[in-house]
Amino acid sequence: MKATRVTEGIYRLSANVSNILFEGMWPVPNGVAMNSYIVKGDKCAIIDGVCAWDGVPETLLSQLDELDIDVKDLDYVIINHMEPDHSGWLDAFRNVRDDFTIYTSERAKPLLDAFYRITDNIKLVKSGDTLDLGDGRILAFEEIPNVHWPETMATFDTKSGTLFPCDAFGSFGAVDNDAPYDDTLQEEQIEFFEREMERYYSNIVTSFSAATRKAVEKVKALPVKIIAPGHGIVWRHDPDRVIRSYTRLAGYSKGPGRAEITVLWGSMYGMTELALQPVIEAIESQRVKTRVHRVPESHIGYILDSVLQSSGVVLAMPTYEYKMFPPMAAILDEIGKKKILNRKALRLGSFGWSGGAQQELDEIVERNKMKWDFLEPVEFKGRPTEQDIALIRQRGIELARAVKAWALADDVA
Ligand code: FEO
Repeated sequence: MKATRVTEGIYRLSANVSNILFEGMWPVPNGVAMNSYIVKGDKCAIIDGVCAWDGVPETLLSQLDELDIDVKDLDYVIINHMEPDHSGWLDAFRNVRDDFTIYTSERAKPLLDAFYRITDNIKLVKSGDTLDLGDGRILAFEEIPNVHWPETMATFDTKSGTLFPCDAFGSFGAVDNDAPYDDTLQEEQIEFFEREMERYYSNIVTSFSAATRKAVEKVKALPVKIIAPGHGIVWRHDPDRVIRSYTRLAGYSKGPGRAEITVLWGSMYGMTELALQPVIEAIESQRVKTRVHRVPESHIGYILDSVLQSSGVVLAMPTYEYKMFPPMAAILDEIGKKKILNRKALRLGSFGWSGGAQQELDEIVERNKMKWDFLEPVEFKGRPTEQDIALIRQRGIELARAVKAWALADDVA
């Protein structure tokens, strides 16, 4: 781990974490980086921090040593976001010194007390407020609520044009701390972080896509030259690239997404599975890509990534005890809670004594205000007949055509 120079007077500190479920639930097979930044004028500020997990605060403090910065020289601690992956180190920091001044938003104040019992030396700031570090370095604060918690704000260094937006413009993926900048990475390495960004966005941010769209507009109004997020790489060469990515992802939430269809399927005894290949072949015959996940085997973290990016969804599942196949019901409900709206969709599957899945499906879609547009479902008793398979193929083609007509123009094959 090492500290690196972002630009004159600004340094990046970072710790990678792996072998965890992020937020206790999301797989991060490629790890995740938590970034913190030192900004130096005549005075010195640290913006954002890291989690409290074993060794992580120590990593941050040792990187300060690398920069020859004594913790006692840090005049200000700027907390853009109170989630403990960024604020957890405060306890460790307080063990080293306890007289620092925190700059944060008004809504963060009760959380500082709740999480860390910090009630003093807090300077509350709002959009338009500034902090003069001296030597021509003025930090400007901009509230960006709900990206990703209500208290979140961004900090902008007016001298260098560096934006510190915390979760916004972040991604999963451990970062090589020898080369944490887009101008020090090969194109395929940047694309790796863009893929990690898609899963990060769908897992962590997508519920707040409306807020993200507003935040992106605020950022576009600033003379941003560098974007230095709390997770992932720093965008120093082409900050517009990550702004475009977030604009696209925030748009996917309400649709359309790519000209792709996610096929979610579950099967008890292989009857519904008999319908799987026909519907996939029918979709792909229209040159529409599929992303296929079996439930409950696939983790919801990957399913959300697929569904967010897809304009269409197939739910292939049997009826179970007069309702939806339970793991599919749970996943659909989570997709709804994540506010992935306005998808073109098709339900198909087997039943034994009775149907009944439709009623529960309607309840979930209505309760979450998902506004999904479903084709006529295809249900079959037991094993699908040849006529059932023919109808499934027909519906697959209809769904693919509907998706192609609706998906973003540049995503259509
Ligand atoms: Fe990276 Fe919402 O914390």
